[in-house]
Amino acid sequence: MASGRHPSLPDDAFFHLFEGLREGVYIGLIGADSSATFAANPHLRLILGWAEDVATSEVRPFEADRFVDPIARDSFVSLLKRDGAVHDHLLRLRRVDGTAVWIEVTARAGPLADSLRVEAVMRDVTERKKLEDQAREVFHQLSQAEKLAALGQTMSGVAHELNNPLATVLACAERLAGRQLDDQTSRDLDAIHNAAERAARIVRNLQTFARKRHTTRTMVDINHVMRDTLALRAYEQQVANVVIVEALASALPQVFADPHQIQQVLLNLVINAEHAMLGAHGRGLMMLRSWHEPERDAVLLEVSDDGPGIPEDVQAKIFDPFFTTKAVGKGTGLGLTVAYAIAHEHGGRISVSSVPGGGASFVLELPSGGTHVRAPESSSAPPAAEVPVGTRALVVEDEQALGEAVADTLRDAGFEVDRAADGEEAIAHTQTRAYDVIICDLKMPRVDGMEFFDHLAATAPALTKRLIFVTGDVAGTEAEAFLERSGCHWLAKPFRLRDVVRLAREVIA
Ligand SMILES: Nc1ncnc2c1ncn2[C@@H]1O[C@H](COP(=O)(O)OP(=O)(O)OP(=O)(O)O)[C@@H](O)[C@H]1O
Ligand SMILES: [Mg+2]
Repeated sequence: MASGRHPSLPDDAFFHLFEGLREGVYIGLIGADSSATFAANPHLRLILGWAEDVATSEVRPFEADRFVDPIARDSFVSLLKRDGAVHDHLLRLRRVDGTAVWIEVTARAGPLADSLRVEAVMRDVTERKKLEDQAREVFHQLSQAEKLAALGQTMSGVAHELNNPLATVLACAERLAGRQLDDQTSRDLDAIHNAAERAARIVRNLQTFARKRHTTRTMVDINHVMRDTLALRAYEQQVANVVIVEALASALPQVFADPHQIQQVLLNLVINAEHAMLGAHGRGLMMLRSWHEPERDAVLLEVSDDGPGIPEDVQAKIFDPFFTTKAVGKGTGLGLTVAYAIAHEHGGRISVSSVPGGGASFVLELPSGGTHVRAPESSSAPPAAEVPVGTRALVVEDEQALGEAVADTLRDAGFEVDRAADGEEAIAHTQTRAYDVIICDLKMPRVDGMEFFDHLAATAPALTKRLIFVTGDVAGTEAEAFLERSGCHWLAKPFRLRDVVRLAREVIA
């Protein structure tokens, strides 16, 4: 016969194929708003939900009411009319029970008077669509992560620019706080100081989040860091009715760590605990413990509170970037993300445990270097030695107000201080006078800190040992490599004036 059927093929071979095919097969007429069916195989009935005993004429997949989107029918029909065929054309059709499925249609069509004669093969691709949609969602999330990373970059740039003005605000507030002030003024000053500290914290968070913070590690006594951190919160805790119970082990081994970063972690844990407790019952009891585990050679620090605790499903999310349950403006949701990053960068870890209603407990674990604190500490800081009369410091800083604040503080501490507004002036000063310590900004107009360093290295190498650089965000820049290479002391902006004095004392010691 004309179809080319082999003589040995049984008469009913095509019928068997039609009946058994795992694709929907359709032959019929499709008009502008109606359709008629000549043949529909069992698989077609299956995917669209028609029972076996429904008459073929009733199985009408291309009726207008089967289309989820009526416009999709119009364009399907006009494509068939125009091209005489469609390949893998996607349609969203309604099954008999009303649920929607994705159907891929390959068909050819011949024009009749006012309709089309259509032969179509139809496939249910709902599952495949679902997978594709999931893949798209994953892709979307990935690009979201990229966007966040880009945002992080931008923010860290902004953060960097904020460092100088912030350093100035903090330094001036710290200076003013040392004066005799009336109550109202001290309260206002406190507010300025707290707000600036908070802004500085956000800046630090953003920088760490963008992995941009330069780290300088030394051997650190974790108990010291904990006490320094508590000192920062002492006032707030007192007025807010937060009681602290300290159980810090004496003679803990030191850890090799960046004390600023560890303080950042602890500060966030302490503030989180305060928020949780005060939010829940307007008062709180915070336990701070530290201990050494010799088997693991680790130092552990625990901050626990008697707040509301953290439900298990929330625990899974608290280390995620930007996860916060705090009101807009109260939390950025970066605190624990940063803590996690810092713990891991130090070869340690941070973990949480909490019984709902029974408070939360965070444990920071850091590998110890195996060295022990020399003397059991009685006071947290050694009494500052007198600065010998005639000890001379040079403060090189292009931010006028900041430079003045640093200079004045050093004067108060007993230094004789000269000021230079940039590297050029600094060079001129060092040529006429001997300095015991030089505090120098890194980024300055004309001659910057690095050039100044090079000049000293060439003309008075001993002086390079007396340099303390102060700088904004350095990571990823030339400055980072420079500080690494030069081995100079340095402080990140914004800094505390007392840290400048402490470092200056160390340099002259
Ligand atoms: N001690 C705690 N008790 C109860 N919930 C806590 C505690 N510590 C953290 N959380 C929960 O974890 C969330 C995330 O904490 P995280 O420190 O990362 O961000 P944040 O404190 O909300 O904002 P940020 O630290 O950036 O200012 C908090 O919003 C809070 O829901
Ligand atoms: Mg926090």
